[in-house]
Amino acid sequence: MIDQPTIQRILDAANIVDVVSEYVSLKRSGSGYKGLCPFHDDSTPSFHVTPSRGIFKCFACGKGGNAVHFIMGMEQLSYPEALRVLAKKYGIDIKEREMTDEDRRAQNERESMFAVNEWASNYFHKTMQETVDGKAIGLAYFRSRGFHDDILKKFRLGFCLDSYDSMTKDALKKGYKEDFLIKTGLTIKRDNGGYLDRYRGRVIFPWFNVSGKVTAFGGRVLDSRTKGVNQKYINSPESAIFRKSSELYGIFQAKKQITKEDLVYMVEGYTDVISMHQCGIENVVANSGTALNVAQIRLLHRFTSNITLLYDGDEAGIHAALRGTDMLLEDGMNVKVLLLPDGDDPDSFARKHNATEFKQYVESNQTDFIMFKVQLLLKEAGRDPRKRSELANNILSSICVIPEELVRSTYLHECAELMQMREDMLLRQCNDKRRKHIEQRKLEREREEQRKEFEKQRQQGVHAMPPTEPGSDHQASVPEFADGLIPPPDVPEAETLPPVIPVSDDTPVAQEKPQDDLLKYLPEEEGKLIQLEKMMMRLVVRYGEKMIDLKADDGHVLQVSVAEFVLGSLEDDGLTFHHPLYAEMMQQLAQNLSEDSFVANKYFTSSPNLDISREASNLMSDKYQLSKGQQMADEESLVGSYINHLMLDYKLLVLKNQIQQLNKQLAQPEIICDEEKSFSIMQQISNLTAIKRDMEKMLGDRVMN
Ligand code: CTP
Ligand code: MN
Repeated sequence: MIDQPTIQRILDAANIVDVVSEYVSLKRSGSGYKGLCPFHDDSTPSFHVTPSRGIFKCFACGKGGNAVHFIMGMEQLSYPEALRVLAKKYGIDIKEREMTDEDRRAQNERESMFAVNEWASNYFHKTMQETVDGKAIGLAYFRSRGFHDDILKKFRLGFCLDSYDSMTKDALKKGYKEDFLIKTGLTIKRDNGGYLDRYRGRVIFPWFNVSGKVTAFGGRVLDSRTKGVNQKYINSPESAIFRKSSELYGIFQAKKQITKEDLVYMVEGYTDVISMHQCGIENVVANSGTALNVAQIRLLHRFTSNITLLYDGDEAGIHAALRGTDMLLEDGMNVKVLLLPDGDDPDSFARKHNATEFKQYVESNQTDFIMFKVQLLLKEAGRDPRKRSELANNILSSICVIPEELVRSTYLHECAELMQMREDMLLRQCNDKRRKHIEQRKLEREREEQRKEFEKQRQQGVHAMPPTEPGSDHQASVPEFADGLIPPPDVPEAETLPPVIPVSDDTPVAQEKPQDDLLKYLPEEEGKLIQLEKMMMRLVVRYGEKMIDLKADDGHVLQVSVAEFVLGSLEDDGLTFHHPLYAEMMQQLAQNLSEDSFVANKYFTSSPNLDISREASNLMSDKYQLSKGQQMADEESLVGSYINHLMLDYKLLVLKNQIQQLNKQLAQPEIICDEEKSFSIMQQISNLTAIKRDMEKMLGDRVMN
């Protein structure tokens, strides 16, 4: 376990804008930044980053937190794993607390697989540069393709010796476990119990994920041996860390430049990506021979909305350009196509030109995707009326998925002219198709939900029948998903408390839509109590150490901190917070408040307890603003009066609950019969009611119902 001062140092060093920018293209917006949320299918920028507070928040899907929580969500890491990633990035030494069994277990399979892949990629790279065969075969091959040293290093290209199992043996010697060598696909276990290096005799192209971890390898046979070998490339098998259809080769090396140029080039293969880098074009990724799928598109869309597809000018290239492209349009991407001169692929073209020439060629030859498709199909259709109507149908299928109406209508206008068809007719058909398309997507989403639910139940061992559609009698089965429809890997849900709900009309609270599971299951009164606890906790986290004026009973004005005030007021009446997390936070506050350097927000956001750090980060987020349109500056200067009012509201509510409880008791048969008891209860009720009346007077007309 990592200790709290270390967590605090990591958070102090981590620049949230820096961290998020590695995954999301951010644009300035006021004092913060905005971008497309990487945690859900976002088409308008709902994802906000506030550097001054070190937090992010998506106001559409609700995900929020600090830099560590962001890395956890993006990389699907545990809290300590994410902290380590940031510590490494910012060069901070980790001070560990004694490891528990739990922690050891948390060093899980995925991490072990990444570790063995990392080792293997370096091993192959070294083998290529230092062994006789490596140099004579592997290095010689890359040299023959014209790759320079810096490029070999940048893509960590390598070579696996052509012996049965020398890589596997070396890995085992280094302490890497057989289990993970097999799970990553580096090693094949033979029936006789022996091992086989999967990539023996091949040059190696490692795949890096967006944060630079090695997820897989592609191994290519060498040209001299390609003849007669039907598998030019062998790729890592699908695993817990690799899904070929969801990854993009080159994304790690490209992401900075993609953001910078606000454009990505899409090519087919490893060598295209690498040659383009060598020629000076770095914003390029490959989909590696598969049709684009949703996960890949989402990944790209975090960095840019502009994509140019670069393909060979031959039949296959044209076909590739048409495959999966509607999905880019559907995601709101701006798609252009460029077919290279016949006989060239991006690899060969890049070797013949420098970056400026390459870009100039692209600039003057790329075509908007829809226009490309229209022209292509028009050529095929000629004057044949039947074919022309098929053409219209085909084009409308592409246009109808585009989310922005304005873009759709612009295309329709241009297409009507090119195809010499009536615009109003195209528009009508397009709208028709769009309606059907939206229906279809909705259905798919519902099925996916059902599938997930079914999967969840199956994992929990509940032998439920797989879902069937109501009214349908088709064979129940877990739907298989077409390549393009595989959903992105599940991001663990942030277990955040939901935003507060307005308590009464004039109670200043956030105007967020209530989605509170916890509150839903609580009796109404208790729900209100917890809302108030949350609002107070929010002020404590944000302004805990800020001094406020407190009027003592004798009229003296005392200076106390917000945290002291809340702790003291609760203690005065022997109260503790109902919500277990808030109760725990208050307890920690009581124990640590007296430290000189205590700053509530730092203390809580850097808590080794993930629930606390997450809740604290969420409470730091701006939309929880207490006011209707008040500025932040106001909140800080008014925190004394806010917290006072909240505490009074809270205590009043507690009191009302108590009175209600007592009234209930009074109605119970055994109490009714017991004169002494019922008298004592009535006495208590009358005392509490008197206090309540006093408090209501204090609250003036702010009384809640
Ligand atoms: N590919 C793959 N697995 C295969 C075949 C192809 O992953 N079995 C992917 C690779 O990313 C490859 C791309 O598809 O780079 C294009 O394939 P191809 O044109 O055959 O290979 P290149 O890498 O372009 O090699 P070259 O043109 O030098 O033959
Ligand atoms: Mn090729």
